[in-house]
Amino acid sequence: MSQGKRVGIIGAGNVGATVAYSLAMLGSCHEIILRDNKIDVAKGKALDMSQAASAVRSHTVVSVAEDMSDLVDCDVVVITAGSPRLPGMSRDDLLMINANITKEVVQGVAKYSPQAIIIMVSNPLDAMTYVALKESGFDRSRVIGMAGILDSSRMAAFIQEKLGYGGGQIRASVMGGHGDDMVPLPRYSTVAGVPLNDVLTQDEIDEIVDRTRHGGAEIVGYLKTGSAYYAPAKSAAIMVDAILKDTKQIHPCAVFLEGEYGYEDVVSGVPVMLGAKGAEKIIEVTLNEKEEAMFKKSCDSVGDLIQTLNENKFFEGN
Ligand code: NAI
Ligand code: 2OP
Repeated sequence: MSQGKRVGIIGAGNVGATVAYSLAMLGSCHEIILRDNKIDVAKGKALDMSQAASAVRSHTVVSVAEDMSDLVDCDVVVITAGSPRLPGMSRDDLLMINANITKEVVQGVAKYSPQAIIIMVSNPLDAMTYVALKESGFDRSRVIGMAGILDSSRMAAFIQEKLGYGGGQIRASVMGGHGDDMVPLPRYSTVAGVPLNDVLTQDEIDEIVDRTRHGGAEIVGYLKTGSAYYAPAKSAAIMVDAILKDTKQIHPCAVFLEGEYGYEDVVSGVPVMLGAKGAEKIIEVTLNEKEEAMFKKSCDSVGDLIQTLNENKFFEGN
C-alpha cells in the first residue's frame, strides 16, 4: 500500500470511473481525484466509490476537481477524457476531437501537477500519447500510453477460449500501435512456457491474431453506444499500481521512440519497464523479418496521424 500518493483521473466516464474503482479497491493510493466536465456525475461517482472503499476497509478517498486548478500535485494522472469510439467510427475519426481535448487537459496537468506521470488512454491512443508528450513538455519517460496490456490480455483470453485450458498461465505478446495493424506476436506467446504453435494449429493462431486486432470493435458491436471499459480500466490500473509501487515490471506500453527499433518521432507499443520514474527502460525484442514489416506498418499508421495533426497546424504556437 502506498501512503500519501495521489492519482488524478481526467474523464470520469466508463473507463475513467472504472480505473478509479479498481484503484480504490486495490488501495493503491491515498487519494483519487476525478475531473470531468460533468461535475455532478463525477461527484456522485466519487461519493459512491469512497463508500465502496470503506466497505472493503481501503483507506483510499475519492474526490472531485471542479476545475483543472484543483488537480494539484498528483503523482500519476490518467487521461481518459474524450469521445468514445461509436459504431462505424474508426479510432482515427476521433483524431481531431480528442487531440483538442487532450491538448487542453494536458496543459492543465503540466501547470498544476508538474511532477506527474501521465498515463494516456484516450484514442487514437498512440497519437494522443504523442500530443500529450508535446503539450506537456515532460520527459518521454513520464508520458506513457495504455494499450499493450489490454491487447495482450485480449489475445490471452482468446487463446484460453480456443484451447479450453491454461487460464492464468497464458502470456500473450502484442506490440505496435493500438490500431487494426497492431502486432500480435504468437512467437513470443506461451501457455505455461509452452510455445503457442505446440498447442494450436497455424489456422487457429491466425484466427486469434485477427480477433485480437479487432477485439475493441467486437465489443463496440455488442455495446453499440460505447466501447470496452473493464479490461481497458484494469490495464490502466495495473500501470498506475506498477508506478506507485515501483515494481520495475515489464509491460507493453506506448512510448515515444528515439531510435529504438529504428524509429524516431513516433509513439508505438513496446515492452517497457515501469517504475517510480515512469517508463524507466525500453526493451528491444528481436523481431524477425515478417514481424519487423508489421511493426513498420503499424508505426507508419501512427506517423500518418501525426502528419495529419501537423497538416492541421495542431502543434503551431508550441
Ligand atoms: P466516456 O464517454 O464514457 O467518458 C469520457 C469522459 O470524458 C466523459 O465523461 C466526458 O464528459 C469526459 N470529458 C470530455 N471532455 C472532457 C474535458 N475537456 N475535461 C474533462 N472531461 C472531459 O468514454 P470511455 O468509454 O470512458 O472512453 C474514454 C476514451 O478512452 C475514449 O477516447 C476511448 O476511445 C478511449 N479508450 C481507449 C482504450 C485504449 O486501449 N487505449 C480502451 C478503451 C477506451
Ligand atoms: C478498445 O480497444 C476502443 O480502443 C478501445 O476497446
